[in-house]
Amino acid sequence: MRDPISLDDLTSNNLGTFKKINTSSLPVKYPESWYKDSLNKDQIISLGYYRELPVAGIKLKTISTQHNINCFETGIQQQLNSKILPNAVYIESFAVLKPYRHLGIGSKLLDFAIEKTKQHFVHEITAHVHVDNHEALDWYLKHGFQKDENVLKDYFKQQGLPNPDAYIIRMKV
Ligand SMILES: CC(C)(COP(=O)(O)OP(=O)(O)OC[C@H]1O[C@@H](n2cnc3c(N)ncnc32)[C@H](O)[C@@H]1OP(=O)(O)O)[C@@H](O)C(=O)NCCC(=O)NCCS
Repeated sequence: MRDPISLDDLTSNNLGTFKKINTSSLPVKYPESWYKDSLNKDQIISLGYYRELPVAGIKLKTISTQHNINCFETGIQQQLNSKILPNAVYIESFAVLKPYRHLGIGSKLLDFAIEKTKQHFVHEITAHVHVDNHEALDWYLKHGFQKDENVLKDYFKQQGLPNPDAYIIRMKV
């Protein structure tokens, strides 16, 4: 039987869908410029489809973990200086629409992230997770990520979340 889950690239035709998936699944807000930049060739993005319906998306970028990302806005906007060698892939956004969770779509998108990490010759995937997002944190931990001991204070402060702190999670690839 044909796998109902498939992945595909982001195009200008489905950019609006990508935005809707993020807006309805995540408590944070990405600026218009972030969506516009998503169409640039150097971006690492995949949409997840369930029976031809776009229901999920992941956006990644290469980073150097030596650079401090201390707030959400820096995390999503900072571009790596071309002279600095990346040593990790950073998950900027990752969401599956609620009715389509627990079907294996998130796991497929994580496989995509692992593959891209290998293709970029780096050995770590990292992300920030809101401290109240227990569901996502549990999911990441079950999928091989570990969380740093200390929380990052005020990471989501400008996003107006009641508790603005974040966990840093990492997985070796
Ligand atoms: C985190 C998130 C992306 C996971 O996506 P998902 O598509 O639900 O992930 P999966 O379906 O691969 O895995 C979820 C569960 O379904 C189970 N599952 C996987 N395939 C399955 C299948 N075919 N049938 C039944 N269950 C299945 C997995 O074992 C997993 O169970 P577990 O949580 O007990 O380990 C999703 O919960 C989400 O979008 N959350 C809101 C946004 C968010 O917080 N994003 C992270 C920001 S840092």
